Amino acid sequence: MTESKASPVASLYVHVPFCAQKCVYCAFYSEASSGELVNRYVAALVRELEMVADDLKPQTIFFGGGTPSLLNLRQWEQILRAMEKLNLLGAEEFTVECNPATVSSDKAKLLRDFGVNRVSMGIQSLDEKLLDRLGRIHTRGMAFKSFDILRRAGFENLNLDLMFAIPTQTMEIWRATLAEVLAMQSEHLSSYEVIYEDDTPLFAQMKAGEFDVDEELACAMYEELISHATAAGFRQYEVANFARDGRDGVPPSLKSGSPTRRPSQDQIPLLACKHNVNYWRGGSFYGLGPSATSYVRGVRTKNWPNTQLYCEQLENGKRAIESSEELSPLRRAGETAAFGLRMNAGWPFGEFQRVTGFDLRREWSGEMSQLAGRGWGEISSDNFRLTKTGLRFADSAAEMFLR
Ligand SMILES: C[S@@+](CC[C@H](N)C(=O)[O-])C[C@H]1O[C@@H](n2cnc3c(N)ncnc32)[C@H](O)[C@@H]1O
Ligand code: SF4
Repeated sequence: MTESKASPVASLYVHVPFCAQKCVYCAFYSEASSGELVNRYVAALVRELEMVADDLKPQTIFFGGGTPSLLNLRQWEQILRAMEKLNLLGAEEFTVECNPATVSSDKAKLLRDFGVNRVSMGIQSLDEKLLDRLGRIHTRGMAFKSFDILRRAGFENLNLDLMFAIPTQTMEIWRATLAEVLAMQSEHLSSYEVIYEDDTPLFAQMKAGEFDVDEELACAMYEELISHATAAGFRQYEVANFARDGRDGVPPSLKSGSPTRRPSQDQIPLLACKHNVNYWRGGSFYGLGPSATSYVRGVRTKNWPNTQLYCEQLENGKRAIESSEELSPLRRAGETAAFGLRMNAGWPFGEFQRVTGFDLRREWSGEMSQLAGRGWGEISSDNFRLTKTGLRFADSAAEMFLR
């Protein structure tokens, strides 16, 4: 969204760089926690919040990681009280990522009391052997139990994260996990195909030939995901994200009594993650914590991906920024185009022009025609979007828009 210099930034991400143990596939910046460093991090984060508070009026807040649910009650209270004092609470959507092994009713209640209204829980699989294979610290039983705890604490907006194409995962196991997860009736579902990230144990195992990567099976699993999630009342709105149109599965447009049509692909589901939609649609956001990226009025900054250094810098009264770059307007627009194309709704031309100042039809007409010719894209009178096949290859398609 285009903001004038005066309007405060409406989106806040906070990175919590601790995990009980690293999962074999994960390249997010996080490390096994030690009590003292976590306390130091919390104090540093409060300082960082103080430094940016004047330029923030968050409508969406997202605590991700790492494992935010690893922080104890006292540490959470310290952060939330500081945010209260700085006038940073009251967001329309406030999400905290949780690992099922670190959810408790006390923590859930505390978060709820301070206005957290959405929890995203990393389940990944409900197959014990695969959970073990992935290095997850939770069991399938914990996934069900924690979901229950969150519901009882009053959370009405829950996301579950799944992964597919996990080595040794068969279609049968995937179908069973999908069926059980869909029966949990969360409001939102995120499901990513395993990415072999450099420098992870899983990548090394793949390189050593310990298992075969079956691209065809991965495609079939993705198809299965889309058809089962859709049948269960979800609507896909991004490559890996699904949400409901209303809490009881009935889109608000159909409740008014008027004979309105079902929501079209252009409409983003009511319970989509608003924080991520802002990100995909090129909005500004502050990212705090080690390794976090901010994107504020065309300037991208990245914090040091090192918790010790992050703490040291803030203890010395400095923002812990490792790098900062001001993107040229065209480069900024190209990135915005690329991000937005991950969404099923694609880019409405008018909206793109409002956000970036550029006309998609002028600057990228060649790329759009090429994608349409390949069957990956679809050009209509008022928007451009990727087709079902195009979405499967969204990363390659999006790359063509970078300048
Ligand atoms: C920061 S984690 C979620 C919260 C918490 N740390 C947990 O794992 O339970 C974000 C999500 O990214 C996904 N993810 C992380 N690394 C991935 C990879 N290499 N391939 C596919 N998905 C990945 C997982 O689904 C994970 O739940
Ligand atoms: S997937 Fe989640 S729990 Fe596992 S290492 Fe990554 S951030 Fe930590």
